[in-house]
Amino acid sequence: MYGMVNKAVEEMVVMHHGEPVWERIKAKAGVDVDVFMSNESYSDDVTYDLVGAASEVLGVPAEQILIGFGEHWVLHTAQEGYGGLMIAAGKTLPEFLKNLPNFHSRVAMIFPKLRPPRFECSDFTDRSLRLHYFSHRVGLAPFVVGLMQGLGKMFGTPVTVRLAEAKAAGADHDVFDVTWTSAPAA
Ligand code: HEM
Repeated sequence: MYGMVNKAVEEMVVMHHGEPVWERIKAKAGVDVDVFMSNESYSDDVTYDLVGAASEVLGVPAEQILIGFGEHWVLHTAQEGYGGLMIAAGKTLPEFLKNLPNFHSRVAMIFPKLRPPRFECSDFTDRSLRLHYFSHRVGLAPFVVGLMQGLGKMFGTPVTVRLAEAKAAGADHDVFDVTWTSAPAA
């Protein structure tokens, strides 16, 4: 994955736990990189190893780390670094989710070697939809849960996310039921 992903993991850990804890996590993961370069590609193993080591050092399940990372990705990495892309993708949570299938094609203009996930939406109602997540990678469903929670916070729209069909349990792909209430009046 592009270095920006590992850099974002670092930022999240340092923000909540400080630099020395991050150094312990990197050492435990056996990752000998001083500075991650955002637009260089790194093996996916680096990211998985960092998440695994963070889980051990912080004593928190890896799923929980990935959920937190999804929120951090939306609220910090994406909003602060790529605000224009985020704003262009929708003014409300449902609008953003309906545009999600096209989102990474824009990201790929900045990062040409991107191996992005694929999203599809179905079963729309005023208050919900089903989000289909297809990935080249394994184990990242909790990251998607965190991303949805982050988007809910970004739009001020309370959201619930339920993994309805799991690839890890033999389904073709992960399917999430995403339900929201209207944003509180400004
Ligand atoms: C401007 C904001 C965003 C940028 C710059 C971005 C960029 C990236 C990058 C660089 C990766 C790693 C893949 C690779 O390096 O090959 C990635 C993966 C991923 N992104 Fe985004 N992304 C953004 C927003 C989002 C949003 C809003 C969502 C969903 C709500 C999302 C969902 C994912 C998921 C689930 C992955 C995991 C990869 C996989 O399943 O294979 N991203 N993205």
